[in-house]
Amino acid sequence: MFCLMAITADSEDMQIHRETILSELKRRFSEDGIEVSEELQNVILSDLVEAHCQSKSQIQTNEIDAMLDDISHRPIGVANTSFKVCVMGGGAFGTAMACALARRGHHVTILMLPDEAKHAENINKVHKNSMCFADVILPASIKASTNAEDALADASLVFHAIPVQYSRKYLQKVKKHIPQSCPIISVSKGISMDTLSFMDDILREELGDAHPLAFVAGPSFAIGIIQGEPTWCTLAASDVNTARSVQKLISSSTFRTYYTTDVVGLEACSALKNVLSILCGMSLALGHSPNTTNGLLTRAWADLRLLVIGLGGRSETMSALCGIGDLMLTCYGGLSRNAKFGQLLAEGLTIEKALEGAGGVVEGLPTSKAVQKLAEKLKIKIPVLNSVALLLDGKLTPRDMVTYVMTLPLSEEFPGLPALSLA
Ligand SMILES: NC(=O)c1ccc[n+]([C@@H]2O[C@H](COP(=O)([O-])OP(=O)(O)OC[C@H]3O[C@@H](n4cnc5c(N)ncnc54)[C@H](O)[C@@H]3O)[C@@H](O)[C@H]2O)c1
Repeated sequence: MFCLMAITADSEDMQIHRETILSELKRRFSEDGIEVSEELQNVILSDLVEAHCQSKSQIQTNEIDAMLDDISHRPIGVANTSFKVCVMGGGAFGTAMACALARRGHHVTILMLPDEAKHAENINKVHKNSMCFADVILPASIKASTNAEDALADASLVFHAIPVQYSRKYLQKVKKHIPQSCPIISVSKGISMDTLSFMDDILREELGDAHPLAFVAGPSFAIGIIQGEPTWCTLAASDVNTARSVQKLISSSTFRTYYTTDVVGLEACSALKNVLSILCGMSLALGHSPNTTNGLLTRAWADLRLLVIGLGGRSETMSALCGIGDLMLTCYGGLSRNAKFGQLLAEGLTIEKALEGAGGVVEGLPTSKAVQKLAEKLKIKIPVLNSVALLLDGKLTPRDMVTYVMTLPLSEEFPGLPALSLA
């Protein structure tokens, strides 16, 4: 390794500096229980030299300091900065976030519903959530409670993992217990059917403007996070300082976030991809070829672009973890309830039976109808996304969908955007 040799080649001093950097690196990795191989040490040292040193053979003391500072800012070995965190919602994803945060060193309490008391007790006693992933052992430090006052008292961070359609009522009940100005981080995806609102609007309308808000989404099935599989997400906050500080507080060596200020883009992509997931599940179950399924999905993604831009989001966000990342996961990850729902519909089940078979919240169902209404409001044509709503209304059959899309008027791939306005 050239760079490593460059650091060591010089003087005895350099050898001492090299040892300092290496031992700091190892200490921080070992706090997370990760062994750092010699190869990885060399690669990281080489990166550090590249990033901070003017000359690879004449490394200055201030450059060594910069390298140590760099190591201390990496999301490893961060367990010593811990806060009290409340996760509202003890379902699959609330449990997943609780695990990520507990591993990050925070003191986490999951707030569950009164009728989930038995499951809360199980989390406290045997460290298992008997409601979902009943066999998986959770970090022992996670507590659960059905008492909103206790769970939220003195919380420094509050996570929202309640399905969007139930969020308003839920927030109305618990809001008096949420500490003033405490940041709220929502991981919920979807559009509320009654008002066509995303979580950003729901949280502001229900809790006022005093809470810094952030939103997390990306390719992140709950079970993967619970099992500590490395997971990457987008973190959006309209205020860049909120984005940076929340990013620091929640990122670890197994849960990494990249921040953006495009809250609208994140929320639109992560809500609307559920409709594409239904479409994908349906197309695969109908036995369509990869050409057909991927063509359909790409055209639906082009429709989604119009919605993202029309709502005020940035199209680049569609390339983010919360965009294409989450789309790939939900379509091809094999665990999506939305894809399962689409599959069961294509197999001829009624909506009610398909919902039952999907085994939980299917956010794509209400979202598909909300999408139709949003497109009407924005006066944009999104025929492929709309075909899902037509199908759910019984106006198209799953088999008709492809014929419908194949016989739409021939056009440019990206026709010019109409003058978009929600007014
Ligand atoms: N499951 C995932 O892998 C995943 C991944 C990313 C984001 N999300 C998002 O997280 C949110 C929560 O999803 P989930 O998978 O944890 O759902 P879930 O159905 O497993 O759990 C929802 C929880 O919300 C709470 N809740 C409060 N009021 C409720 C009501 N009226 N009805 C039902 N539950 C109520 C309950 O504690 C319930 O356990 C959704 O918006 C979802 O899109 C889920």
